[in-house]
Amino acid sequence: MIFNILTLFPDLITSYTSESILKRAQAGKYIAINPVNIRDFATDKHHTVDDTPYGGGAGMVMKPEPIYEALKSIDALPYKSVRGIKKITKVFDGSLSKKKKTVYLSPRGRQFDQRVAEEWASLSELTLICGRYEGIDHRVVDHMIDEEVSIGPYVLAGGELGALVMIEAIARNIPGVLGNPDSLIDETHTEHIDAEYPQYTRPKAFMGWEVPEILMTGDHKKISDWRKEQSNV
Ligand code: ADE
Repeated sequence: MIFNILTLFPDLITSYTSESILKRAQAGKYIAINPVNIRDFATDKHHTVDDTPYGGGAGMVMKPEPIYEALKSIDALPYKSVRGIKKITKVFDGSLSKKKKTVYLSPRGRQFDQRVAEEWASLSELTLICGRYEGIDHRVVDHMIDEEVSIGPYVLAGGELGALVMIEAIARNIPGVLGNPDSLIDETHTEHIDAEYPQYTRPKAFMGWEVPEILMTGDHKKISDWRKEQSNV
């Protein structure tokens, strides 16, 4: 799966994705991370990406043209904006594994959750547009994306943190990314949401706090029953 991230701060993306699980997922070719610098697509001498709002008001608004050109360069514009026809939200070439989606991150979007993370793990390509400043020209929302998505009911300085949250949550559901498939089935938020049980490792006693005796018994049935009982479903 390919993740394209349109941003004014590509280093924010690479600094996180070049470590740990996302680093391994890229090395194993399960995913590719492609940060696209929106500023590279500004055509004027000063590489201007924002301007004052029509109708007045404080702050700056991100211009539509560099975003359009950046999306065009990676073939991530929904059909409607390429052809000027009615909205076709999915670029679909006949096979489930070849789906593409282009998303704008904003606090006004639909809430991203584990269900969406699992569903989108079967996309072939996800393009995430990160806004900055006070806003983005609304023609981006109206004509250049499939969906507006929020990672939670709070306002961040831009979409980059949201993009990283989404990439990690989605990538974990791509077969092979976690290495051991058991760790996916067992996890909190998969299958039975919130069904995690308490885990312990050595030492057996620390500061007088003991590991539950039952985990030491080697009785798999009893341990499994105990874990079910402890998980908060
Ligand atoms: N950009 C700013 N706030 C955001 C949020 N809550 N989710 C996604 N993108 C955002």
